[in-house]
Amino acid sequence: MTFESKIKTIEWINNKSRMIDQTVLPYKFKTVDIETLEDMYFAIKNMIVRGAPAIGIAGAHGIALGAINLSHIDNKDDFLHQLQQKADYLKSSRPTAINLAWAINKQIELAKNTIGSVNDIVEVLKINAKKLENEDIEINKKIGENGARLVPNGAGILTHCNAGALATVGYGTALGVIRSAYANDSSIKVYADETRPRQQGARLTAWELTQDGIPTTLITDGMCSYFMSKGMINFVVVGADRIASNGDTANKIGTFTLAIAAKYHNIPFYVAAPLSTIDISIDSGSQIPIEERSKDEVMIVNSKLICPEGVNVVNPAFDVTPNELISGIITEVGVLKPDFKISIREVFKIHR
Ligand code: MRU
Repeated sequence: MTFESKIKTIEWINNKSRMIDQTVLPYKFKTVDIETLEDMYFAIKNMIVRGAPAIGIAGAHGIALGAINLSHIDNKDDFLHQLQQKADYLKSSRPTAINLAWAINKQIELAKNTIGSVNDIVEVLKINAKKLENEDIEINKKIGENGARLVPNGAGILTHCNAGALATVGYGTALGVIRSAYANDSSIKVYADETRPRQQGARLTAWELTQDGIPTTLITDGMCSYFMSKGMINFVVVGADRIASNGDTANKIGTFTLAIAAKYHNIPFYVAAPLSTIDISIDSGSQIPIEERSKDEVMIVNSKLICPEGVNVVNPAFDVTPNELISGIITEVGVLKPDFKISIREVFKIHR
């Protein structure tokens, strides 16, 4: 069973990309309209839109916007050359989530393969931006259904960061599993990690599950082992920013720690992600670029410095969970099991 969520994170509407501004949640709900590819770069980099699948769709919208902006160019080769340059720029906004490059590459490939005028290409890119957007919700619902079957009755489910409707077009991956599990069994309990430093768990996951009436308990990042040892958490599901072809998974910093804690307590640890998050061009997680973000995100909370000025601070946004800690990867086409090298290879033979 699926659960209807009201949240639409990003939407192509009247030749603009309308998105929920995630930097101001949960204090304020507002949407912003993005009208140029350059503004889309800003929105992705500054996390107005964030979460791997959502920034993928933002990338697809961004290319459509870039194409509209270049539509005065009559010569098709010049147009495609300039669009490619803009695409490379847009891809550099955030390096870890592969969905961004995946969606931008899809748009560029389509532009190159479209027979017709520059205006024809622009129209095709707009239509495809909307199509990818609509497909994302359907994919998440399938992930939700596939994952919900794994959730024990009355389970205590822990999730990290926000892999929800706000990290996708709607419904979510890890939170899609939780939404579908809740539709079948309203006795499940959800635990959301706060997720330092940007607090996506507290600000976004707790907000969206509360909006949908799914009872949620907020915990800080260091509390997971305590609740696991008490038997209150017995299932972990997280999203992913990039999965290597051996199953190693980059996700929000702190995910690796959760996976180790889950292994110690003999608790299943699942990753929920669309196939577009799997990067078959890389063999292992060591090849995944990890975004380093501003130290201010760690040092400043609610405009207040929380540490001595001048202290050494680092801020990697993601870590890589080794495949041996992962029980399964929940995708839209089913649950991939270890040995992931084999299951991923097999699934890509059929679906790509
Ligand atoms: O830095 P963010 O907020 O973009 O990080 C998001 C995550 O790590 C999510 O878990 C991941 O993108 C999967 S979203 C379905």
